[in-house]
Amino acid sequence: MTNRPSYYITTAIDYVNGRPHLGHAYEKVLTDVLARYQRRQGADVFFLTGVDEHGMKVQQSAAKQGRQPQEFCDEMAGHFRALYDRLNISYDDFVRTTQPRHKEVVQKILQQLFDAGEIYSADYEGYYSTRLEQFLTEKDRVDGKFPESFGEVVFLQEKNYFFKLSQYQGWLLEFYQNHPDFIYPSFRTKEVLGALQEPIPDLCISRPAARLSWGIPLPFDSEQVTYVWFDALVNYLSVLGYERGQAGGRWPAVHVIGKDILVPPHAIYWPAMLKAIGVAQPRQLVVHGWWTQNKEKMSKSVGNVVDPLELIDLYGVDAFRYFVMREMALGYDADFSEEQFKLRYQSELGNTLGNLVNRSVSMIHRYRGGVVPSPMEPGTEAGEGFRRDVLESIRVYRENMDKLQLHVGIMELWKGLMRVNQFVDETAPFKMAKDEARRAELDHVLHELAAALELFAQELQVLLPGTALKMCEQLGGGLQSSISQELHWPESVAGRHLGQAQVLFPRLEETPSPKPA
Ligand code: MSP
Repeated sequence: MTNRPSYYITTAIDYVNGRPHLGHAYEKVLTDVLARYQRRQGADVFFLTGVDEHGMKVQQSAAKQGRQPQEFCDEMAGHFRALYDRLNISYDDFVRTTQPRHKEVVQKILQQLFDAGEIYSADYEGYYSTRLEQFLTEKDRVDGKFPESFGEVVFLQEKNYFFKLSQYQGWLLEFYQNHPDFIYPSFRTKEVLGALQEPIPDLCISRPAARLSWGIPLPFDSEQVTYVWFDALVNYLSVLGYERGQAGGRWPAVHVIGKDILVPPHAIYWPAMLKAIGVAQPRQLVVHGWWTQNKEKMSKSVGNVVDPLELIDLYGVDAFRYFVMREMALGYDADFSEEQFKLRYQSELGNTLGNLVNRSVSMIHRYRGGVVPSPMEPGTEAGEGFRRDVLESIRVYRENMDKLQLHVGIMELWKGLMRVNQFVDETAPFKMAKDEARRAELDHVLHELAAALELFAQELQVLLPGTALKMCEQLGGGLQSSISQELHWPESVAGRHLGQAQVLFPRLEETPSPKPA
């Protein structure tokens, strides 16, 4: 047993019908930053990510390659997992919806709802878009015809099962009125309330297995399989274990998702499903915006995707993590530009952070044989102001991280790093080194630099885990996995033997491409 607060955080699980792109990678980095931040705060974190493997699209993609769906999924799941490992995503579990542990829980929940009369079967007939895999209504016609975007439209008559979603409408409305902070950013709650103004129909949860075989069979009708959301959403519970009405101990979760899957799946279906099975609501939905290219959503179907692996090969993992977290204001869209990536790489990572660490460590080697000297007695005017400014930047960084204003927090941290650069420029240690009479002053400046970098290295392990580790090696210390709530100036850096100075973010050459570690 632990008395640390529990913090369960999840990402959306990605469809495996295409390779992961920048949008998928962003979401996993975002969730990783939140998970690492909570771990440092002392929480007992459980971080879940994974892939969504069932459905018609996967069945078709596999068939196109003449392969069995499972074999196809195994390969694709491998690509996602390899990318997330490369990105240093500190997940505790990786769920695949084809795993028996998941299928069992989906079936348990279906059976529970069926027994409770929450699921019923009905004959359904209507026009169906084979491209979008959904039934169409008369409202979808434009000038009497279904638009091209639906692809082939056929008239279908079939039996399906439905979840009595409509009866949760009143409860959902009340829930959102009483929980204005359930969704972050809270302005998205309006979209949910808007959707709840219209009557919500019952949710079709199955397809005949004859048409869609790549799914989880209904436990009460083997000729039908569950369809999309009833399968996918349950992943959040299935990894914890589930018995009628009883979710595993780590529940409830914070779900990190993109805005396209808020309404209706996460904001309407999922709360209603949880209510129906008697499980508590999630702790929060954290909803991010889209990466776009020329203002259009980046997606496989549009064909405008950016491959994260190419960026990582060119600039390094931490540069990728930094860029996506700094560039996108959480909750809003951001347009991707490699030019902007390069600018941030060169100035914020290369200069403000990389050069600062490099020249500070080099000076301690050159002037003091690589051993951090002792500071002067407290009270020196210049020193006090410097300490105050650096600590303040870290305090404001943490304050913003707590409020999920991640990009603002990062900006604050970089303000602090700029303050350290300014300190070097103002005190000019290279001049002090030429004057033996200023020995104690130089000791002090070098100590303060090492101490400030120690503070930043500890904070940066959340955002840039690889870089933070390299900084600690150079600073002759180690990473502290959790923080003391009281922020104070490091006492223990004097006397440390520094490691060799390393280049953290190599200069970008036009050709050949740099190969950062
Ligand atoms: N499989 C469903 C999610 C089920 S969750 C129980 C799905 N998969 S997805 O592969 O299409 O998307 C996975 C996540 O990536 C979603 O949160 C989605 O919003 C996000 N992104 C996909 N494209 C995106 C961008 N262009 N930009 C940012 N994130 C977007 O939906």
